[in-house]
Amino acid sequence: MSSAEPQGLQAFPEELSTREAWLEPYGWYREMRENEPVRYDPGRNSWDVFRYADVKRILNDDATFSVDPEKATDFVEPEGEGEGLILDTMLFEDPPRHDDLRGVVEDSFRPRAIRELEPRIRELTREILDDALEGEGEMDLVSEFAYPLPVVVIAELLGVPVEDRDRFKEWSDAIVSSASDDEGGAEFAERQQEVQREMGFYFLQLIEERRENPRDDLISTIATAEIDGEPLPREEVLGTCILLLVAGNITTTNLITNAVRCFGENDLFGTYTDAGAVPTPAIEETLRYRAPVQAMTRIATEDVTVGGETIGAGDRVIAWMGSANRDDRQFPEGDSFVPDRSPNQHLGFGHGTHYCLGAPLARLEAEVALSELFDRLAGVEFADARLQPTRSSFIYGVESLPLRYSV
Ligand code: HEM
Repeated sequence: MSSAEPQGLQAFPEELSTREAWLEPYGWYREMRENEPVRYDPGRNSWDVFRYADVKRILNDDATFSVDPEKATDFVEPEGEGEGLILDTMLFEDPPRHDDLRGVVEDSFRPRAIRELEPRIRELTREILDDALEGEGEMDLVSEFAYPLPVVVIAELLGVPVEDRDRFKEWSDAIVSSASDDEGGAEFAERQQEVQREMGFYFLQLIEERRENPRDDLISTIATAEIDGEPLPREEVLGTCILLLVAGNITTTNLITNAVRCFGENDLFGTYTDAGAVPTPAIEETLRYRAPVQAMTRIATEDVTVGGETIGAGDRVIAWMGSANRDDRQFPEGDSFVPDRSPNQHLGFGHGTHYCLGAPLARLEAEVALSELFDRLAGVEFADARLQPTRSSFIYGVESLPLRYSV
């Protein structure tokens, strides 16, 4: 794992460092749930927690398990301007500041507000699908369909010109990525800093513009927000814009892609192409079975016992939602994909204070995208069995998913 990765997001253990292991981490999770459900890894100086009840408890108790990376005993102040832009956001703040920051944008993401976006999301989906289906029977689901949709949707919501979407992809990919095999740590750190500087500069210009001439968009809402009569500091305005961009892109792309992967693996393509739609429980089951976010980090604020192990104040704890979601103690036959599973209290969007702000939007996008896709296709199959996992220590998906289809 690179030391340049945002410190709040570090998660990658040695056991998952190969392509095969990160494509299918679930056997290892099972072993850990049974044999070492709470373990300390000296290599990463962090704890790993694998069972559902323990993971949920950690996410639910933000007084004992803080999201603030500075509370870690081994925290190192990020060097250089521009690094750690999203550290100044709700994602890495505990209450009360968390609640204030979340409050600035919360109304825009409530289910009722999001439902109003449906016609526009459907229109965008159809446009993207028209282009993707020009491929005469072959397409890459990721780059041609699952990636462009969330980028365009969040760009529109924020009020960012859609022409800049290619730049968005590079930025959001770079921020969640790990160092590549042929790249040294220093080189990687430099590239990350460069990306953050570029992105920061770009957004600051837009923010200034909207402060002067507010419009009906999220950048204007954030740029003109006040908390207790005070405007938000520049870093928090910038951080919030970038968080919304980054948090919703690759995660939603991977939800759509992981869903198609699950459907194919479980012989459901025919069922959904015949019906011309994908039922919502199958999307929830994807969030459980192949969760786009596998793990989140917390810092213990006091000595605390979890699963019989004592975690010390200032220790880093990785809550493995990807493992919790497969725990048979909570989900009968946890390692089986059951498309109509009910109940399904998965932790794919987290839990508690930091429960995903964008969950209603992600659900709507996935529902529209998958239903439009299967409505248009008469037949579909995987075109290439060799998958490459997303390069990240906590985001789970594949880099591309080639499909052969008939319409
Ligand atoms: C938080 C997952 C889509 C914005 C989270 C968390 C998870 C998550 C697990 C909790 C982090 C923690 O506990 O530390 C996902 C998944 C998505 C998705 C799987 C897609 C399938 C989105 C979208 C947006 C978004 C579309 C916005 C456009 C956020 C924000 C937070 C968050 C702002 C921080 C909330 C807080 O700290 O209060 N997300 N997310 N997410 N997500 Fe999402």
